[in-house]
Order: sequence, then C-alpha cells, then structure tokens
Amino acid sequence: MSETYHYNLPVCLPIFRKYMENEKTAILSFLLPEEKSMKVVPGQYFMLWLPGDDEIPIAVNHYQKKTISFAICGVGPTSNAIIQKEEKCLIGLRGPFGNGFNLDHNKNVVIIAGGIGIAPLRFLVHQLINNSFISRKIILIQGARTKTELLFREEFEKLPISTDFCTEDGSYGFHGLISEKIETTLDNLLDKPLNWEIYTCGPELMLKKILVIAQEHSLERNLQICLADRYIRCGFGICGSCFIDDLGLSICQDGPVFRGDVIARVDDFGKFGRGADGSKYPFANIGK
Ligand SMILES: Cc1cc2nc3c(=O)[nH]c(=O)nc-3n(C[C@H](O)[C@H](O)[C@H](O)COP(=O)(O)OP(=O)(O)OC[C@H]3O[C@@H](n4cnc5c(N)ncnc54)[C@H](O)[C@@H]3O)c2cc1C
Ligand code: FES
Repeated sequence: MSETYHYNLPVCLPIFRKYMENEKTAILSFLLPEEKSMKVVPGQYFMLWLPGDDEIPIAVNHYQKKTISFAICGVGPTSNAIIQKEEKCLIGLRGPFGNGFNLDHNKNVVIIAGGIGIAPLRFLVHQLINNSFISRKIILIQGARTKTELLFREEFEKLPISTDFCTEDGSYGFHGLISEKIETTLDNLLDKPLNWEIYTCGPELMLKKILVIAQEHSLERNLQICLADRYIRCGFGICGSCFIDDLGLSICQDGPVFRGDVIARVDDFGKFGRGADGSKYPFANIGK
C-alpha cells in the first residue's frame, strides 16, 4: 500500500487555477507538491486559511492526480476575501479532515443537493461514476435559488446520470423549493423496491425533510447526511465548537457525514446550530 500524508498545520500553496462558476462562487485549484499521494474521500473538508485573516472549513470539490479543488461561495468576510484572490496568491491548507461519505458501489443512488451543498457532492458523483456497475442508477436532484446558482449544471447534464433540477424563481427546472420537489420525487423513487443509498448535503431544514421521508420508508440507515450548515473551528476535536447536542459527537471529526439513524437521535437537528461564541441560531429555509 502506498504511503499517504495529511497537513496538520496550514501549508501555504499558490492558487494554481481560479474561475468563477457564478458571480459569487469561485473554484480554486491547488497543485499538491508532495511525491506521496493524499487519501481524500468525498465529504471530507480542509480548513482554508487566508494569511493575516481567518480560517474556514471548505469541502473538497474535486481531487485527481495531485490537483485539489474547492468551490467557495462568498457569504461573509473570509469567504469573500478568499474568492477575490487571484492565481499565484497563497492560501493555507490544513486537512483533509472528517470522515467523508461511505461509497457503496453496489447500490442505486440518489444524490440530493441544496445550494452550495453541491460542493462535496460533485466529487462524490465523479467517484461513483468511475466505480459504477453498468446497470446502476445514479440520480441527482439539485436545487438552488436561481439558474446561475445551479453549480456545475452543464457538467452534470453531460454525465451518464439522471438529473432533476429545481429553482426557487422558476428560471430552470421545477419552480419551487427543493424541499417541495423532494417531497414527491424522493417519495416516488423510494417506493420502488430497489436497493437505494441516499447522499445529501445542503441547508439543514432540507436535510431534515429528507430524513423524515427516509424514515417513512425505513431507509434512514441508507441515508448519508453531510452537515455543512454547522460551525467548525479547529477541525480536530479539541475546541468543542461543533459538538452536537446530546450525542456528544463532533461534526469536525466524527462527521461531517452521519448516517440518518444517528442524526435521528440529535435533538437540535434542523432546529438550531451554534456560532463562533457558542450562541444558538435558528436554521433558515434557504442555503448559504
Ligand atoms: C464541513 C463543512 C464544509 C463546508 N464546505 C463548504 C464549501 O465547500 N463551500 C462553501 O462555500 N462553504 C462551505 N462551508 C461553509 C463555510 O465554511 C462558511 O460559509 C464560511 O465559514 C463562512 O465564513 P465567512 O467568514 O465568509 O462568513 P461569516 O459572515 O463569518 O459567516 C457566514 C455564515 O457562515 C457560517 N460560518 C462562519 N464561520 C464558519 C465556520 N468556521 N464553520 C462553518 N460555518 C461558518 C456562519 O454561521 C454564517 O451562517 C462548509 C462548512 C462546513 C462546516
Ligand atoms: S471544530 Fe473544534 S471540536 Fe470540532
């Protein structure tokens, strides 16, 4: 087995490639210089550090042949400052952290993404396609506020998967909230007696709806939820910022991906998260 490595401290690397997927989302790629390979699983994340500023958790969006990419949506001071950087600027990378998705190559798959929740799921889609048996179904349901926020849509439409899009303003696909879309679509799909695995990431209220539908079909153990609507600070389990109420699990190390039957036991799931100072905030119905 080949040796792998991990960045425990931020390693500053120049941005190798940058492009804007839409006006507030940048895709930044970095070349990893080491000779050894890095083991990275979809759903894992890095802490991206802007020297002289802050550090934020960002999921791996793609990783192949020593090139690693991140899709970063500008929502606040640090994410906006990072997406304004140009090629050759230095960004600190720490990771990969967390557990990532369990890739089951023997099942039919439904992938559900809300807003920037598509970021880790793009890497997952490619990994599943590369390891697919011929007759397996891969269905992607993706929702966003408007057409330009359906990130990677054109790329997905060219892949050998079924796609189903929705937008809140009706500019592409189904007109409405993704939670309305999945209520009927997911329910109908799961009614079919196929061997399903469900992967999802997005706003926590959307994740909650998916969990309820999976529970109605007794499929919560076949549901893998990436909790990226939560606050992460250290990334390795010591600061306590990301602990889930009651279960005592950390999102940064034990997650960010959890099985539906575990999340079903989390008291605060879909109700509130905690910010930098530990104070509670309620979840909004839309993605960040
Ligand atoms: C596991 C994980 C993976 C993520 N992957 C991506 C991704 O691939 N692409 C992407 O655009 N965003 C991703 N995020 C969200 C991203 O980390 C936040 O949008 C970012 O930290 C905002 O920081 P800010 O200073 O720009 O904004 P702020 O104004 O500080 O915050 C804006 C919003 O982001 C949340 N936030 C702030 N700091 C953090 C933090 N340290 N951890 C988590 N949330 C925070 C706040 O609660 C607030 O809702 C991920 C979050 C987690 C937990
Ligand atoms: S972010 Fe510090 S314990 Fe999880």
